[in-house]
Amino acid sequence: MVNLWWFLILTLMFLDSHLINGDNNNNNNNLLTLVAISKELKVIDWDEDNLKNTSNYCSWPHITCNTNHFVEKIILSHQTLQGNLTLFCSLNSLKWLDLSFNTFHGPIPQCFSHLFDLEFLDLSYNKFDGSIPIELGMLKSLKFLNLSSNLLIGSIPNELEGLVMLQELQLYINSLNGSIPSWVGNLTSLRVFTAYENELSGKIPENLGAFSELEVLNLHSNYLEGMIPKNVFVNGKLEVLVLTQNKLGGTIPDLVGKSKDLSNVRIGNNGFVGNIPKEIGNLGSLTYFEADNNNLSGEIVEEFAQCSNLTLLNLASNGFSGVIPSVFGDMVNLQELIVSGNSLFGEIPTSVLSNKNLNKIDLSNNRFNGSIPRSVCNSSRLQYLLLGQNSLTGEIPNEIGNCVKLLELQLGGNYLTGTIPPEIGKIKNLQIALNLSFNHLHGQVPPDLGKLDKLVSLDLSNNQLTGDIPLALKGMLSLIDVNFANNHLTGPIPSFAPFQKSPNSSFIKNEGLCGYPLNTFCENSDGSQAFHHKVSYKTVLVVIGSCLLVFTSVTIVVVLFMMREKQEQMAKTVGKDDEQVIEEDKPLVILGNVFVENLKQAIDFNAVVKATLKDSNKISSGTFSTIYKAEMPSGLTLSVKRLKSVDKTILHHQNKMIRELERLSHLCHDNLIRPIGFAIYDDVALLLHQFLPNGSLARFLHESSKEQVYKPDWPVRLSIAVGVAEGLAFLHQLAIIHLDISSGNIFLDSNFKPLVGEIEISKLLDPSRGTASISAVAGSFGYIPPEYAYTMQVTAPGNVYSFGVVLLEILTTRAPVDEEFGEGVDLVKWVQGAPTRGETPEQILDAKLSTVSFSWRKEMLSALKVALLCTDTTPAKRPKMKKVVEMLQEIIIENK
Ligand SMILES: *[C@@H]1O[C@H](CO)[C@@H](O)[C@H](O)[C@H]1NC(C)=O
Ligand SMILES: *[C@@H]1O[C@H](CO)[C@@H](O)[C@H](O)[C@H]1NC(C)=O
Ligand SMILES: *[C@@H]1O[C@H](CO)[C@@H](O)[C@H](O)[C@H]1NC(C)=O
Ligand SMILES: *[C@@H]1O[C@H](CO)[C@@H](O)[C@H](O)[C@H]1NC(C)=O
Ligand SMILES: *[C@@H]1O[C@H](CO)[C@@H](O)[C@H](O)[C@H]1NC(C)=O
Ligand SMILES: *[C@@H]1O[C@H](CO)[C@@H](O)[C@H](O)[C@H]1NC(C)=O
Ligand SMILES: *[C@@H]1O[C@H](CO)[C@@H](O)[C@H](O)[C@H]1NC(C)=O
Ligand SMILES: *[C@@H]1O[C@H](CO)[C@@H](O)[C@H](O)[C@H]1NC(C)=O
Ligand SMILES: *[C@@H]1O[C@H](CO)[C@@H](O)[C@H](O)[C@H]1NC(C)=O
Repeated sequence: MVNLWWFLILTLMFLDSHLINGDNNNNNNNLLTLVAISKELKVIDWDEDNLKNTSNYCSWPHITCNTNHFVEKIILSHQTLQGNLTLFCSLNSLKWLDLSFNTFHGPIPQCFSHLFDLEFLDLSYNKFDGSIPIELGMLKSLKFLNLSSNLLIGSIPNELEGLVMLQELQLYINSLNGSIPSWVGNLTSLRVFTAYENELSGKIPENLGAFSELEVLNLHSNYLEGMIPKNVFVNGKLEVLVLTQNKLGGTIPDLVGKSKDLSNVRIGNNGFVGNIPKEIGNLGSLTYFEADNNNLSGEIVEEFAQCSNLTLLNLASNGFSGVIPSVFGDMVNLQELIVSGNSLFGEIPTSVLSNKNLNKIDLSNNRFNGSIPRSVCNSSRLQYLLLGQNSLTGEIPNEIGNCVKLLELQLGGNYLTGTIPPEIGKIKNLQIALNLSFNHLHGQVPPDLGKLDKLVSLDLSNNQLTGDIPLALKGMLSLIDVNFANNHLTGPIPSFAPFQKSPNSSFIKNEGLCGYPLNTFCENSDGSQAFHHKVSYKTVLVVIGSCLLVFTSVTIVVVLFMMREKQEQMAKTVGKDDEQVIEEDKPLVILGNVFVENLKQAIDFNAVVKATLKDSNKISSGTFSTIYKAEMPSGLTLSVKRLKSVDKTILHHQNKMIRELERLSHLCHDNLIRPIGFAIYDDVALLLHQFLPNGSLARFLHESSKEQVYKPDWPVRLSIAVGVAEGLAFLHQLAIIHLDISSGNIFLDSNFKPLVGEIEISKLLDPSRGTASISAVAGSFGYIPPEYAYTMQVTAPGNVYSFGVVLLEILTTRAPVDEEFGEGVDLVKWVQGAPTRGETPEQILDAKLSTVSFSWRKEMLSALKVALLCTDTTPAKRPKMKKVVEMLQEIIIENK
């Protein structure tokens, strides 16, 4: 109300002054429109203070005027705005309108077509729905149109062919269907065209690129058919070509060689056939070439070696034959060579292995038939050496120990002979897997393998290994998966939790092996052995018992994770389109686990990751995280929390983090949301929780009333308050401090039972570690206890204060901060100031509730007292959380 006053007064003042000055009427219109927009969208930066300067609206933030003081440019991105946009349609000098990253919904206003001068329109990352209005075709001056990441349906309208000036057209991540209209190919200025992740079908227009200098074409994840139009290459300006995951076919045109600037080619998961043209060697800028899962054939052309900037070459799962050209060693920038699943043969190319930058070489599932070269890790940073399922012969060289950076070593399914070199024990980084299965290895299992304390999966099965399983293997503290089956091993299986927890199939077909999990007891043949066994057998039982306790926490956790520095570098080298890299890279979940046994089947990590890449799944965004809704193929719906990278230490301390998560997942309290699992990829951590369809308490209090579904139900609110207090009291009992109590972090189930979320944040961000970003850990604005300003520490009494704020919210139906309270006044100060303002409790409490019945009013006043105790300025005077629970429960009992 106060604001409205201001606007009226100011507007009148302004009109007065300008009538005197005899200024142009249109400026008034601009001002009136802006004032109206400010009110409609609640633009924070256009509040009273700025509006006082009416004569100078051109200096308001987000606005640029032309020389005649007409508004020409408005940039209002990332403002969480919503509301009716038709007001913008009267700003008819507008050339530039950026409303990206807000929460606008409903259809795109047709009246935008009145903005004849508009050159730039960005409505991306909102929730616009319906179809693209055909009226936009009237924007003859439009050069940049971005409607990406909305909920748009229907086809790309033919009427837009009027947008003859278009340079960049971005439509990605919507639900657009139909085919790509051929007018797109007729746009003579088109440089960028993206429409990935839609439901487009039909052919890519033949004329695309024929009349313009196309630089970026990204259409991945659609249902497109037909061939790559040759025209996209003829102008030679193409830089990015991404067509992954479509139904395209035909051959890769020879004309590809004309695009000297082409740096990024991704055409995997289609039906392309034929050879890769030799002209590929002309692409000096080529950085990223990915054509896996097609029907390409012929030899791998050695012309790739001329692409000295090539960083990734992925030709997996095609029909390539022949050898890897030795000149591939010339590609000094090559980081990943992936050619698995073809019919390649010959020696492992030593020239490629000597490449300093090589990070991953995947030759698995081919017919490579040489031996593993001694120089295998002469100078490389190799992390992945994947040679499984080939015809390799000879011995594993001792020099394999030089591969100190390896995370994964796959040599299974070959004809390797000799013994397992003990030097493998030197590869301390080995964590994902060591697989030597299905070879002809003999001799003993070297005890040195016990030094691999990060290794998760060890497979030595199907060889001719002899001797005992060394006790030293107990040093493999991270082991989960183990397989010794089908060898000639003898003696007792060491008592080591990962062994005993394995199925007996991991040890079968070793005639001399005995002990659990096999069904054969160990014979006490030799005297000392027998004594040893007796003692150890008893202790084994005890040890297994306690191990199971101690080790469950360690072993349930999969510890394969390692920061993929390289992936980041890759993202950088591919450069320009960082965002696209994230969008398109098939997310590789490096590490993930579900703590709840009976949900394991129902959760698909790739579906989880995909859900977080779609903005339309976003539910809310908090201080530390963004929450997405994720539907599993199994039909289960999850809530997925993507941690903001507030603190890289989360990832550096992932083992600790995972243990903490697991611990929290066992915390049983009705009013706490426990993590049910997690997934990690790149440097992103995702936490999985149950999905609560009723949303947050904040929504219940502050949004439902606007939507007129508001039901005055005080008893429900009181029981919510009690539930939240109980959840927090339980945490405090375990000395866990919540770092972000707010009504936005309290969720309601279908019976309005409250569940406190974000409890893991307190465990993942350790405030005592004192990293710089921790100073940001103050919780949400309005809930921060006053003492935080000088202690910079969240404490149990601080939690009580924040809870008091939530209770006040419940009592008043007001947000913790609201401009109506006045400058610098938050909800707590506003309530505390009521007596001095001479206001009665009714003027504070939500009158819709307090006037319903005498008993409701009485209970609300009692609860208000509790809230005031909790929000006392002096931390020591605030009650303990346990006491708060008691006081609130008393209110219920007293009034029964
Ligand atoms: C109003 O605008 C003038 C000119 O840009 C500026 O100097 C002045 O500080 C502004 N006043 C307020 C209250 O923002
Ligand atoms: C927006 O406002 C215009 C003009 O007041 C009105 O005609 C239109 O129906 C409104 N649109 C929505 C979606 O409320
Ligand atoms: C939308 O597309 C335009 C034109 O290509 C581009 O300039 C702008 O940065 C894009 N917006 C976002 C949020 O990516
Ligand atoms: C496109 O989607 C709309 C609405 O979802 C549907 O009515 C229409 O039939 C679809 N058209 C095609 C060609 O699939
Ligand atoms: C595109 O241009 C060609 C040649 O100039 C013309 O024949 C065709 O009708 C145009 N297509 C559209 C959809 O405008
Ligand atoms: C290779 O990459 C470098 C660094 O990005 C660049 O300066 C150089 O021009 C590229 N080479 C070619 C042939 O494009
Ligand atoms: C591609 O290869 C697969 C498997 O070899 C085969 O079934 C399919 O027919 C091939 N498709 C084409 C278009 O050649
Ligand atoms: C590998 O296989 C190829 C083709 O079958 C054969 O010509 C070559 O001699 C083999 N090399 C070795 C070392 O066996
Ligand atoms: C590997 O390094 C050794 C010793 O540094 C050297 O003698 C040998 O020539 C190197 N081999 C290759 C293939 O680079």
